Amino acid sequence: MTEFVGTEPIAIARSVAGLRACLGDWRCGGARVALVPTMGALHEGHLTLVRHAATLADRVCVSLFVNPTQFGPNEDYTIYPRNEAADAAKLAELGCAHLLFAPSVEEMYPDGAMTRISVPGLGDLLEGEFRPGFFTGVATVVGKLLVQVLPDVAVFGEKDYQQLLVVRRLALDLCLPTVIEGVPTAREADGLARSSRNAYLSAEERAIAPALNQILQTVARGVAAGSDAIELGDWGEAELLRAGFASVDYVTVRDAETLASWQDPARPGRVLAAARLGTTRLIDNVPVG
Ligand code: PAF
Repeated sequence: MTEFVGTEPIAIARSVAGLRACLGDWRCGGARVALVPTMGALHEGHLTLVRHAATLADRVCVSLFVNPTQFGPNEDYTIYPRNEAADAAKLAELGCAHLLFAPSVEEMYPDGAMTRISVPGLGDLLEGEFRPGFFTGVATVVGKLLVQVLPDVAVFGEKDYQQLLVVRRLALDLCLPTVIEGVPTAREADGLARSSRNAYLSAEERAIAPALNQILQTVARGVAAGSDAIELGDWGEAELLRAGFASVDYVTVRDAETLASWQDPARPGRVLAAARLGTTRLIDNVPVG
């Protein structure tokens, strides 16, 4: 296939046909396949996912696609960091990814593509409320990737916790044969969740950013000790503003499986938040208890 550029620094497929040719060879050899979907700008968080994928499968395919349908009209699609050569070099250095699938927009959305996948309910809450259409874009592209690769396992970070639940639901609803694996959030030494969007933060904003995780941890400890979840969520929002965040979309304690309000302490809980530091929107979440 012409799109294979050899194994230096890593094999790349740019078309679905090329991807399937490679997957076909792997499958003939009896390999178990893992997929790690990414939008590139790879950092330690992504590399953690790839390393984890390699413990679950014989062959790891990493997809790199900045998906236009998950960006709102006023979001950062055009300026989202893109550096395929650097991403390929990082994967090659890591040594446990076997194929980079880097399709064009036309390849992923042939002829404009009319079909969309949405996950109503789960996809309408929280991020879905503040970023209308976001989860339809995510579910559509992840659904396509899962159908293209048909991996045994696909690996997603818990950093995008609601996304992980939406993807699990879509795999279940579409009877896809893939196990959806969540991996705990990779963090900087000061607790800030690793994210490609951290690159947008000024030095002053970067110094404030760890407050997000610290405040979420305090809320999680408080509710685990029996304090009122709504009051602690309100406290968390006020604390973020006091720490220097420009605005807060939500700090909320939810059922970790359904994202409904967390009312039953016997059920697993999750504290989730989204807030803006300058113009950069950060999200994070931590488990209760
Ligand atoms: O988490 C991401 O990077 C993206 O939402 C994903 C899952 C690769 C879909 O574009």
